[in-house]
Amino acid sequence: MRDPDLSVKIGKIKLKNPVIVASGTFGFGEEFKDFFDLHQLGALITKGISLEPMIGNLPPRIFETEGGLLNSIGLQNPGFECFVNEKLPYLRKIGTHAIVNFFGNTPTEYTELARRLSEVRGISGLEMNISCPNVKQGGILFGCDPGMTYQVVRSVRRSTQLTLIVKLSPNVTDIARMAKSAEEGGADAVSLINTFRAMAINIHSRKPELGNFIGGLSGPAIKPIALRMVWEVSRVVHIPVIGIGGITKAEDAIEFILAGATAVQVGTANLVNPNTAVEVIAGIKKYLLQTKACRVRKLIGLFKV
Ligand SMILES: Cc1cc2nc3c(=O)[nH]c(=O)nc-3n(C[C@H](O)[C@H](O)[C@H](O)COP(=O)(O)O)c2cc1C
Repeated sequence: MRDPDLSVKIGKIKLKNPVIVASGTFGFGEEFKDFFDLHQLGALITKGISLEPMIGNLPPRIFETEGGLLNSIGLQNPGFECFVNEKLPYLRKIGTHAIVNFFGNTPTEYTELARRLSEVRGISGLEMNISCPNVKQGGILFGCDPGMTYQVVRSVRRSTQLTLIVKLSPNVTDIARMAKSAEEGGADAVSLINTFRAMAINIHSRKPELGNFIGGLSGPAIKPIALRMVWEVSRVVHIPVIGIGGITKAEDAIEFILAGATAVQVGTANLVNPNTAVEVIAGIKKYLLQTKACRVRKLIGLFKV
């Protein structure tokens, strides 16, 4: 039997396979170059970038929970100029798509940054973070209100020709409504989910485990909720949905695809096993061969109800 076709399309981007590494869990790529050839990835999404550098939140910023990880990094990043001068040259050589995750404090900052990112060479697409739970900035304000989501997405849409993915927050009552607003604003795709607002307390010191008190929960603990949200969203939008949340193995990724995701992102699992993404790609291929499916695209939304 011929090798199955793993390719999928997100906006204008043709991915060789549906596996992407998630923002904030894969640095700017170079950090992972000794583990595997990055060209194997469907795409790589960078740490979130802002116009100016940010130092992030007070430590401790990471705390492991049962089945999950709490983080309150606070969108620490080197800022646009440094990203373009010091990080992008490496990303241009990786042989797969580099998608830049970005955010701003105001709609004007989002628009300005999207415009500037569109003027530099080597970026295949933008992932707009309107969902970071760890900072007042980072767009959570926009991401929790359908009207504001629509407005900010629409103004960014007008400032870039690049494929625009809008990353949604799970910290809302009706995520499908937010997805619809992003679609109406002109998003080419939605990605979900970002982390859940959460916390942990040290019973001996009686202090919070995170310097910022509240952080975002990720990892296997959130997978079933993420899957439910992806399913709900994929039923109401006509643009591709990218599934994120607790993926550690091919079976998880396949579940998301059956629920309606066109592609998936591997996040926290990269920090446990840096080879997770390539193992997920190999596992999807094996599943397609075993089930005699010739293309992964045929599996999207095949979930039977
Ligand atoms: C340490 C850490 C840093 C993150 N930084 C970002 C970020 O800068 N921008 C963003 O949109 N999401 C960020 N995320 C969220 C992830 O991209 C992903 O949406 C989330 O962790 C859920 O997926 P997972 O369970 O596979 O990790 C971060 C997550 C972690 C654990």
